[in-house]
Amino acid sequence: MATEATNNERRVSGLKPTFSVMLPEHLDQVLGIENRSFTVPWSRRAFMFEVTENEFAFYTVAITEEKVVGYAGLWIVLDEAHITNVAVHPDHRGFGYGRALMVELISRAAMLGAYRLTLEVRISNGAARDLYKSLGFVEKGFRRKYYSDNGEDAIIMWLNLRRTDY
Ligand SMILES: CC(C)(COP(=O)(O)OP(=O)(O)OC[C@H]1O[C@@H](n2cnc3c(N)ncnc32)[C@H](O)[C@@H]1OP(=O)(O)O)[C@@H](O)C(=O)NCCC(=O)NCCS
Repeated sequence: MATEATNNERRVSGLKPTFSVMLPEHLDQVLGIENRSFTVPWSRRAFMFEVTENEFAFYTVAITEEKVVGYAGLWIVLDEAHITNVAVHPDHRGFGYGRALMVELISRAAMLGAYRLTLEVRISNGAARDLYKSLGFVEKGFRRKYYSDNGEDAIIMWLNLRRTDY
């Protein structure tokens, strides 16, 4: 009960994150979240490439009380944006940071000229699927046995940015 009260207080007081472009100095914290969030986490080298070399990539971190609580990224390919990852620190889930990160990405994708936004999500990942659906993403197909760790299928989701105001 004590935990619930604290969590409710946090929801109400709404520790609003600030967003920053992901920089190399964020990577220790980002990798801490990545390793706790995914069974096949990206390496430091992969993130470093994304934030220092990939000119088609945009990555953002959400920060509260000077700590990275989550991050998300996308690639822009012509007029399409592909979300590569979204994660929130396990201790900070359920407080709206995942939604805030997605809204930030959607708005950035639109600013960068994308008309459509796509992503893949594990069939078993109910929390992420619910989040994406609540933002207007529509499930439009599968990639069979997409995930190498357990052979799970991916659902492909799309959001048409022309029909949505962000
Ligand atoms: C998916 C994830 C980013 C959501 O982040 P979060 O900060 O906890 O999400 P929010 O608090 O912003 O919740 C947004 C919505 O997500 C959905 N959601 C979040 N947690 C949920 C849960 N445990 N069960 C079902 N739906 C959930 C709800 O639709 C929620 O909306 P609501 O608050 O109006 O009910 C987070 O769970 C995470 O990091 N998971 C591990 C990494 C991952 O799976 N990334 C996605 C890969 S495709």
